[in-house]
Amino acid sequence: MNLHNQPTSEPSVALGRGNGGGRIYLETFGCQMNVLDSQLVQSQLRALGYRFVEDWRQADVVLYNTCSVREHAEQKVWSRLGEVAIHKREQPGVIVGVLGCMAERDGLGMARKYPQIDLLCGPGELDRLPFLIENVRKTAQEEQFSRQAVQAALQGNTHRRSGTLAAAEDRLEMLDLSRSFDPDEHRGSAYVRITRGCNKFCSYCVVPFTRGAEIHRPPDHIVEECRRLVDAGVVEITLLGQTVNHYHFHHGAAVSFEGRQQPQVGLAVGRKGLPSKAKGETIVGGRITTFADLLARIHDQVPGLLRLRFVTNFPRDFGDDILAVIAEKPRICRYLHLPAQSGSNRLLELMNRGYTVEEYRQLIARIRSVLPDATLAGDVICGFSTETEEDHQATCDLLRFARYKNCFVFKYSARPGTTAMDRLPDDVDEATKRRRNNELLAVQSEISAQVHRSFEGHTVRVFVESVSTKARKAQEQLGGQTVELGWQKPVTQLCGRTDGDLIVMFDGDPALIGSMVEVTVERSAPLTLFGRLADAMPAASPSVG
Ligand code: SAH
Ligand code: SF4
Ligand code: F3S
Repeated sequence: MNLHNQPTSEPSVALGRGNGGGRIYLETFGCQMNVLDSQLVQSQLRALGYRFVEDWRQADVVLYNTCSVREHAEQKVWSRLGEVAIHKREQPGVIVGVLGCMAERDGLGMARKYPQIDLLCGPGELDRLPFLIENVRKTAQEEQFSRQAVQAALQGNTHRRSGTLAAAEDRLEMLDLSRSFDPDEHRGSAYVRITRGCNKFCSYCVVPFTRGAEIHRPPDHIVEECRRLVDAGVVEITLLGQTVNHYHFHHGAAVSFEGRQQPQVGLAVGRKGLPSKAKGETIVGGRITTFADLLARIHDQVPGLLRLRFVTNFPRDFGDDILAVIAEKPRICRYLHLPAQSGSNRLLELMNRGYTVEEYRQLIARIRSVLPDATLAGDVICGFSTETEEDHQATCDLLRFARYKNCFVFKYSARPGTTAMDRLPDDVDEATKRRRNNELLAVQSEISAQVHRSFEGHTVRVFVESVSTKARKAQEQLGGQTVELGWQKPVTQLCGRTDGDLIVMFDGDPALIGSMVEVTVERSAPLTLFGRLADAMPAASPSVG
């Protein structure tokens, strides 16, 4: 089998047109970054005449945009590849592609193990996807389906293209810039990438290898993208970056980057917005746009934007300048996702997180004093290498201190290529990981219930996202009918989020989806608020909540 690192005959291919486009099925796994990547890929392929279908069996091209962060995430894709292999025996012309972090992490190995794969495309090469698809088609036609070569566009673990200025000319930048601003494609809410990649190298994490070196997008591009989205009807934007608060763009500076690991230099307590310089990065002159500057610019220059959110924050980079901007600008959400990963200093060091638990606690205290109404969310990993009962209890204590509105708890999964996998034993057995996972969830569940209960009786602003899952299932059982009330408006259970990212269920007209409403909270559960539209008639029925 030949594996090409570069797609062949790029310029000579008439994209999509020779075949009149085609039907594509695209399934997305993993984080919000992947969701955005899939949206960008769809825009790109639609513009070339492809159509997207919901049933993979009807598709000419089946694409999986994959995640590699834990083994469990990969297993789902292995099982999809098993199904598609059987289908391909009947339909040998179907093209199967693996995109995203799994393709990048396991590229060649994956193609060898799974001959049903026709193309691989890493997250740093998605702009090449149309060429890859066309090349597979062309090769298949020439060889009458006895395909010998897998089309692959991967960065390779050693290639860490980086820098800030480079982003302006970066090919991937064009993918973000060419996104669709069609109002029908956004239901009021959109993601905007501000930083690609990650330089932190937490010892357990594959992301720096799959997504490559950190690149900061030019602020002018970001602000313009936000403005155009708002013109297209978007009212809520979520800025994306693996360490979103580490954003900094050097204007007019000469930047070079050797792609080396950034040193961990301690938590940025009280920092006035000057980012620490990455090792290997040479900056000559120029002005810097910090994350705080960027938030302020978007807030002030895109006044039609009702809600500005951002994920995920890295604790060490959280300066007071960011808190001050959030406090000053009312349309920036008072919601901070701030993963701690562990409450034990020994484990934080083994994880290479670059902060101590005391520093993390100080950060939370600072947030509470500047933004008393902010809600926090966290991530922790249980059962990391050598974790003792004492370490585990320290993490439980941290949850009690942080009082997150919710916290994602992950069992440690050793990932190939990471320092932890290479140098540290995965020595906490599965039963202990599971028990600690459940204990952390129990601690968090009680805290989440208290946080949610404190909103009972209050009126909250809600961005309406969708019909609730429960109502959707009920409607499906009724054959898709919407229930009509006496006063003639269709009412169903809707689901949305507060400024602080709390989930809210309430009865209302599905036409409200994509807009902002006020809801009075009547009762709560550990992860949900239930209420009724403020100033609306009390919901007479038929609530499915
Ligand atoms: N950049 C973000 C997180 C990206 S991955 C941050 O640093 O916070 C999302 C979450 O997956 C992480 O916060 C971590 O809790 C979890 N995670 C990452 N690698 C993992 C692994 N090998 N095993 C278990 N959980 C992991
Ligand atoms: Fe992974 Fe750490 Fe980067 Fe987050 S900050 S993506 S956990 S390496
Ligand atoms: Fe997964 Fe890649 Fe996101 S590994 S979490 S899809 S950056």
